[in-house]
Amino acid sequence: MNMPIDLQRVDAAESMRRRVLEWRRDGLRVGFVPTMGNLHAGHYSLIAAARAQCDRVVASIFVNPTQFGPNEDFATYPRTMDADAAGLAAAGCDLLFVPDTAALYPFGTAAAVRVHVPVISAGLCGSFRPGHFDGVASVVAKLFNWVQPDAAYFGRKDFQQLRLIERMTVDLGLPIDIIGVDTLREPNGLAMSSRNQYLSPDERERAAEIYRTLQAMGHAIRQGSTRARVETVAVDRLRAAGFRVDYAVIRRAGDLSEPGDGDRTHLVGLVAAHLGKARLIDNLLI
Ligand code: PAJ
Repeated sequence: MNMPIDLQRVDAAESMRRRVLEWRRDGLRVGFVPTMGNLHAGHYSLIAAARAQCDRVVASIFVNPTQFGPNEDFATYPRTMDADAAGLAAAGCDLLFVPDTAALYPFGTAAAVRVHVPVISAGLCGSFRPGHFDGVASVVAKLFNWVQPDAAYFGRKDFQQLRLIERMTVDLGLPIDIIGVDTLREPNGLAMSSRNQYLSPDERERAAEIYRTLQAMGHAIRQGSTRARVETVAVDRLRAAGFRVDYAVIRRAGDLSEPGDGDRTHLVGLVAAHLGKARLIDNLLI
Protein backbone atom coordinates (compact mmCIF):
# COMPACT_ATOMS: atom_id res chain seq x y z
CA MET A 1 0.00 0.00 0.00
CA ASN A 2 1.19 3.54 -0.73
CA MET A 3 2.32 5.79 2.10
CA PRO A 4 -0.65 7.58 3.59
CA ILE A 5 -1.00 11.05 2.11
CA ASP A 6 -2.71 14.00 3.58
CA LEU A 7 -5.88 12.53 5.08
CA GLN A 8 -7.53 14.85 7.55
CA ARG A 9 -10.01 13.66 10.12
CA VAL A 10 -12.91 15.84 11.25
CA ASP A 11 -15.21 14.82 14.08
CA ALA A 12 -17.25 17.98 14.58
CA ALA A 13 -20.17 18.20 12.19
CA GLU A 14 -19.97 22.01 11.95
CA SER A 15 -16.31 21.86 10.88
CA MET A 16 -17.19 19.21 8.36
CA ARG A 17 -19.80 21.43 6.73
CA ARG A 18 -17.43 24.43 6.67
CA ARG A 19 -14.65 22.49 4.96
CA VAL A 20 -16.86 21.32 2.13
CA LEU A 21 -18.48 24.75 1.72
CA GLU A 22 -15.01 26.25 1.27
CA TRP A 23 -14.13 23.70 -1.38
CA ARG A 24 -17.36 24.22 -3.25
CA ARG A 25 -16.95 27.98 -3.07
CA ASP A 26 -13.62 27.43 -4.85
CA GLY A 27 -15.49 25.61 -7.61
CA LEU A 28 -14.28 22.14 -6.60
CA ARG A 29 -16.53 19.12 -7.09
CA VAL A 30 -16.89 17.14 -3.87
CA GLY A 31 -17.61 13.40 -3.80
CA PHE A 32 -18.84 11.57 -0.68
CA VAL A 33 -18.56 7.90 0.36
CA PRO A 34 -20.56 7.04 3.50
CA THR A 35 -19.45 3.86 5.31
CA MET A 36 -19.66 2.05 8.63
CA GLY A 37 -15.91 1.39 8.66
CA ASN A 38 -14.02 -1.90 8.76
CA LEU A 39 -13.08 -1.00 5.24
CA HIS A 40 -12.08 -3.45 2.53
CA ALA A 41 -11.23 -3.25 -1.18
CA GLY A 42 -14.93 -2.85 -2.05
CA HIS A 43 -15.11 0.37 -0.04
CA TYR A 44 -11.85 1.59 -1.52
CA SER A 45 -13.25 1.05 -5.01
CA LEU A 46 -15.94 3.62 -4.11
CA ILE A 47 -13.20 6.05 -3.07
CA ALA A 48 -11.44 5.39 -6.41
CA ALA A 49 -14.67 6.05 -8.34
CA ALA A 50 -15.17 9.32 -6.43
CA ARG A 51 -11.52 10.23 -6.94
CA ALA A 52 -11.91 9.75 -10.71
CA GLN A 53 -14.93 12.06 -10.95
CA CYS A 54 -14.40 14.64 -8.21
CA ASP A 55 -11.77 17.14 -7.05
CA ARG A 56 -12.16 16.30 -3.38
CA VAL A 57 -13.28 13.07 -1.72
CA VAL A 58 -14.91 12.84 1.70
CA ALA A 59 -15.56 9.53 3.46
CA SER A 60 -17.52 9.02 6.66
CA ILE A 61 -17.29 6.26 9.23
CA PHE A 62 -20.31 5.87 11.49
CA VAL A 63 -21.77 2.61 12.75
CA ASN A 64 -25.37 3.74 12.65
CA PRO A 65 -27.39 2.30 15.55
CA THR A 66 -30.81 2.95 13.98
CA GLN A 67 -30.28 0.56 11.07
CA PHE A 68 -29.52 -2.46 13.29
CA GLY A 69 -32.32 -4.62 14.68
CA PRO A 70 -32.37 -5.52 18.40
CA ASN A 71 -30.87 -8.97 17.69
CA GLU A 72 -28.35 -7.82 15.10
CA ASP A 73 -24.61 -7.18 15.32
CA PHE A 74 -24.44 -3.47 16.28
CA ALA A 75 -22.40 -4.08 19.45
CA THR A 76 -20.00 -6.50 17.78
CA TYR A 77 -19.76 -4.80 14.37
CA PRO A 78 -15.99 -4.69 13.70
CA ARG A 79 -14.44 -1.29 14.46
CA THR A 80 -10.96 -0.77 12.96
CA MET A 81 -10.45 2.99 12.81
CA ASP A 82 -6.65 3.17 12.50
CA ALA A 83 -6.45 0.68 9.65
CA ASP A 84 -9.41 2.37 7.97
CA ALA A 85 -7.80 5.81 8.14
CA ALA A 86 -4.54 4.48 6.66
CA GLY A 87 -6.44 2.70 3.89
CA LEU A 88 -8.52 5.77 3.08
CA ALA A 89 -5.40 7.91 2.82
CA ALA A 90 -3.76 5.41 0.48
CA ALA A 91 -6.94 5.24 -1.63
CA GLY A 92 -6.88 9.00 -2.16
CA CYS A 93 -9.49 10.23 0.29
CA ASP A 94 -9.00 13.86 1.39
CA LEU A 95 -11.21 14.10 4.43
CA LEU A 96 -12.59 11.58 6.93
CA PHE A 97 -15.75 12.51 8.83
CA VAL A 98 -16.27 10.61 12.09
CA PRO A 99 -19.40 12.04 13.72
CA ASP A 100 -20.51 10.86 17.12
CA THR A 101 -24.02 9.68 17.87
CA ALA A 102 -24.94 12.98 19.57
CA ALA A 103 -24.07 14.93 16.41
CA LEU A 104 -26.31 12.81 14.20
CA TYR A 105 -29.02 12.18 16.78
CA PRO A 106 -29.19 15.35 18.92
CA PHE A 107 -32.54 14.27 20.43
CA GLY A 108 -31.48 10.64 20.85
CA THR A 109 -32.29 7.80 18.49
CA ALA A 110 -35.83 7.07 19.73
CA ALA A 111 -37.01 10.67 19.24
CA ALA A 112 -35.13 11.19 15.96
CA VAL A 113 -36.81 12.24 12.73
CA ARG A 114 -37.20 9.22 10.49
CA VAL A 115 -36.99 9.22 6.74
CA HIS A 116 -39.24 6.49 5.40
CA VAL A 117 -39.09 5.57 1.72
CA PRO A 118 -42.23 3.52 1.04
CA VAL A 119 -42.53 0.70 -1.50
CA ILE A 120 -38.83 0.33 -2.28
CA SER A 121 -38.04 -0.42 1.38
CA ALA A 122 -40.94 -2.85 1.79
CA GLY A 123 -39.89 -6.23 0.40
CA LEU A 124 -36.63 -8.21 0.27
CA CYS A 125 -34.34 -7.16 3.15
CA GLY A 126 -37.07 -4.78 4.37
CA SER A 127 -39.20 -7.81 5.26
CA PHE A 128 -36.44 -9.54 7.19
CA ARG A 129 -34.93 -6.48 8.86
CA PRO A 130 -37.86 -4.34 10.08
CA GLY A 131 -36.90 -0.67 10.35
CA HIS A 132 -33.50 -1.24 8.74
CA PHE A 133 -34.11 0.92 5.69
CA ASP A 134 -35.68 3.73 7.73
CA GLY A 135 -32.43 3.78 9.68
CA VAL A 136 -30.36 3.82 6.50
CA ALA A 137 -32.42 6.55 4.78
CA SER A 138 -32.46 8.66 7.93
CA VAL A 139 -28.73 8.53 8.58
CA VAL A 140 -27.83 9.09 4.93
CA ALA A 141 -30.15 12.12 4.78
CA LYS A 142 -28.42 13.50 7.88
CA LEU A 143 -24.94 12.80 6.49
CA PHE A 144 -25.92 14.43 3.19
CA ASN A 145 -27.01 17.53 5.09
CA TRP A 146 -23.78 17.79 7.04
CA VAL A 147 -21.45 17.04 4.12
CA GLN A 148 -23.46 18.60 1.26
CA PRO A 149 -21.52 16.82 -1.49
CA ASP A 150 -22.05 17.19 -5.23
CA ALA A 151 -22.06 13.41 -5.68
CA ALA A 152 -22.33 10.38 -3.40
CA TYR A 153 -21.10 6.85 -4.13
CA PHE A 154 -22.85 3.62 -3.15
CA GLY A 155 -22.06 -0.01 -3.92
CA ARG A 156 -24.38 -2.02 -6.18
CA LYS A 157 -23.72 -4.86 -3.76
CA ASP A 158 -26.39 -3.35 -1.50
CA PHE A 159 -28.78 -3.02 -4.41
CA GLN A 160 -31.96 -2.27 -2.48
CA GLN A 161 -30.07 0.32 -0.44
CA LEU A 162 -28.81 1.99 -3.64
CA ARG A 163 -32.33 2.17 -5.11
CA LEU A 164 -33.64 3.48 -1.77
CA ILE A 165 -31.08 6.30 -1.66
CA GLU A 166 -31.75 7.20 -5.31
CA ARG A 167 -35.48 7.47 -4.55
CA MET A 168 -34.98 9.46 -1.38
CA THR A 169 -32.67 11.90 -3.13
CA VAL A 170 -35.08 12.52 -6.01
CA ASP A 171 -38.14 12.67 -3.77
CA LEU A 172 -36.60 15.14 -1.32
CA GLY A 173 -35.11 17.16 -4.19
CA LEU A 174 -31.56 16.88 -2.87
CA PRO A 175 -29.05 18.33 -5.35
CA ILE A 176 -26.74 15.29 -5.16
CA ASP A 177 -25.80 12.86 -7.94
CA ILE A 178 -26.11 9.27 -6.68
CA ILE A 179 -23.54 7.03 -8.34
CA GLY A 180 -23.71 3.21 -8.16
CA VAL A 181 -20.40 1.32 -8.22
CA ASP A 182 -19.97 -2.33 -9.29
CA THR A 183 -19.52 -5.04 -6.67
CA LEU A 184 -15.96 -6.05 -5.89
CA ARG A 185 -15.57 -9.80 -5.39
CA GLU A 186 -13.08 -12.28 -3.98
CA PRO A 187 -11.39 -14.48 -6.61
CA ASN A 188 -13.99 -17.20 -5.90
CA GLY A 189 -16.87 -14.79 -6.63
CA LEU A 190 -17.89 -14.02 -3.03
CA ALA A 191 -18.90 -10.35 -2.77
CA MET A 192 -16.55 -8.53 -0.41
CA SER A 193 -18.23 -7.58 2.84
CA SER A 194 -17.25 -6.61 6.37
CA ARG A 195 -19.44 -9.50 7.52
CA ASN A 196 -17.34 -12.08 5.63
CA GLN A 197 -15.03 -12.13 8.63
CA TYR A 198 -17.78 -13.88 10.59
CA LEU A 199 -17.12 -16.86 8.24
CA SER A 200 -14.65 -19.68 8.84
CA PRO A 201 -12.19 -20.41 5.97
CA ASP A 202 -14.37 -23.34 4.93
CA GLU A 203 -17.53 -21.20 5.02
CA ARG A 204 -15.82 -18.55 2.89
CA GLU A 205 -15.33 -21.11 0.16
CA ARG A 206 -18.90 -22.35 0.44
CA ALA A 207 -20.23 -18.76 0.47
CA ALA A 208 -19.18 -18.39 -3.18
CA GLU A 209 -22.18 -20.62 -3.94
CA ILE A 210 -24.32 -17.47 -3.69
CA TYR A 211 -22.60 -15.94 -6.71
CA ARG A 212 -22.73 -19.20 -8.67
CA THR A 213 -26.45 -19.45 -7.87
CA LEU A 214 -27.03 -15.89 -9.09
CA GLN A 215 -25.19 -16.68 -12.32
CA ALA A 216 -27.34 -19.80 -12.77
CA MET A 217 -30.51 -17.76 -12.12
CA GLY A 218 -29.56 -15.30 -14.87
CA HIS A 219 -28.72 -18.13 -17.23
CA ALA A 220 -32.03 -19.89 -16.59
CA ILE A 221 -34.04 -16.69 -17.17
CA ARG A 222 -32.21 -16.09 -20.44
CA GLN A 223 -32.94 -19.70 -21.44
CA GLY A 224 -36.66 -19.05 -20.93
CA SER A 225 -37.38 -20.61 -17.51
CA THR A 226 -40.25 -19.07 -15.56
CA ARG A 227 -39.42 -16.81 -12.67
CA ALA A 228 -41.17 -19.12 -10.16
CA ARG A 229 -39.14 -22.09 -11.35
CA VAL A 230 -35.86 -20.17 -11.25
CA GLU A 231 -36.52 -18.94 -7.71
CA THR A 232 -37.46 -22.42 -6.43
CA VAL A 233 -34.36 -24.01 -7.94
CA ALA A 234 -32.16 -21.27 -6.46
CA VAL A 235 -33.57 -21.69 -2.94
CA ASP A 236 -33.14 -25.48 -3.14
CA ARG A 237 -29.58 -25.13 -4.37
CA LEU A 238 -28.61 -22.77 -1.55
CA ARG A 239 -30.29 -24.93 1.09
CA ALA A 240 -28.44 -27.96 -0.23
CA ALA A 241 -25.19 -26.03 0.20
CA GLY A 242 -26.02 -25.37 3.87
CA PHE A 243 -27.52 -21.88 3.74
CA ARG A 244 -30.59 -20.68 5.60
CA VAL A 245 -32.25 -18.67 2.84
CA ASP A 246 -34.15 -15.41 3.44
CA TYR A 247 -34.86 -14.96 -0.27
CA ALA A 248 -33.59 -15.82 -3.74
CA VAL A 249 -35.70 -13.89 -6.23
CA ILE A 250 -35.86 -12.15 -9.59
CA ARG A 251 -37.01 -8.52 -9.60
CA ARG A 252 -37.13 -5.60 -12.03
CA ALA A 253 -33.80 -3.81 -11.72
CA GLY A 254 -35.35 -0.33 -11.95
CA ASP A 255 -37.77 -0.42 -9.04
CA LEU A 256 -37.44 -3.95 -7.55
CA SER A 257 -41.06 -4.74 -8.44
CA GLU A 258 -42.08 -8.28 -9.42
CA PRO A 259 -41.62 -8.88 -13.13
CA GLY A 260 -44.27 -10.45 -15.33
CA ASP A 261 -43.42 -13.68 -17.13
CA GLY A 262 -42.83 -11.72 -20.36
CA ASP A 263 -40.05 -9.66 -18.72
CA ARG A 264 -36.66 -11.05 -19.71
CA THR A 265 -34.35 -8.04 -19.48
CA HIS A 266 -33.67 -5.19 -17.06
CA LEU A 267 -33.96 -7.72 -14.27
CA VAL A 268 -31.83 -8.46 -11.23
CA GLY A 269 -31.37 -11.65 -9.23
CA LEU A 270 -31.13 -11.02 -5.49
CA VAL A 271 -30.13 -13.38 -2.69
CA ALA A 272 -29.99 -13.02 1.09
CA ALA A 273 -28.92 -16.09 3.03
CA HIS A 274 -27.35 -17.04 6.35
CA LEU A 275 -24.22 -19.16 6.57
CA GLY A 276 -22.77 -19.83 10.01
CA LYS A 277 -22.87 -16.54 11.92
CA ALA A 278 -23.12 -14.32 8.82
CA ARG A 279 -26.08 -12.98 6.89
CA LEU A 280 -24.86 -12.48 3.32
CA ILE A 281 -26.49 -10.57 0.46
CA ASP A 282 -25.59 -10.37 -3.20
CA ASN A 283 -27.20 -9.66 -6.55
CA LEU A 284 -26.54 -9.86 -10.27
CA LEU A 285 -28.07 -7.88 -13.14
CA ILE A 286 -29.73 -9.95 -15.86
P1 PAJ B 1 -21.14 -0.25 4.65
O1 PAJ B 1 -21.69 -1.61 4.79
O2 PAJ B 1 -19.88 0.12 5.37
O3 PAJ B 1 -20.93 0.01 3.11
C1 PAJ B 1 -20.50 1.28 2.65
C2 PAJ B 1 -20.60 1.28 1.13
O4 PAJ B 1 -19.72 0.32 0.58
C3 PAJ B 1 -22.02 0.91 0.63
O5 PAJ B 1 -22.39 1.80 -0.41
C4 PAJ B 1 -21.82 -0.50 0.14
O6 PAJ B 1 -22.74 -0.86 -0.89
C5 PAJ B 1 -20.41 -0.44 -0.39
N1 PAJ B 1 -19.82 -1.79 -0.53
C6 PAJ B 1 -19.77 -2.76 0.42
N2 PAJ B 1 -19.22 -3.89 -0.09
C7 PAJ B 1 -18.92 -3.62 -1.38
C8 PAJ B 1 -18.33 -4.38 -2.45
N3 PAJ B 1 -17.94 -5.63 -2.27
N4 PAJ B 1 -18.16 -3.78 -3.65
C9 PAJ B 1 -18.56 -2.47 -3.82
N5 PAJ B 1 -19.12 -1.71 -2.87
C10 PAJ B 1 -19.30 -2.27 -1.66
O7 PAJ B 1 -23.83 0.42 3.52
C11 PAJ B 1 -23.51 0.93 4.58
O8 PAJ B 1 -22.23 0.84 5.11
C12 PAJ B 1 -24.47 1.75 5.43
O9 PAJ B 1 -25.77 1.27 5.25
C13 PAJ B 1 -24.41 3.27 5.10
C14 PAJ B 1 -24.83 3.57 3.67
C15 PAJ B 1 -23.02 3.84 5.39
C16 PAJ B 1 -25.42 4.01 6.04
O10 PAJ B 1 -25.12 3.76 7.37
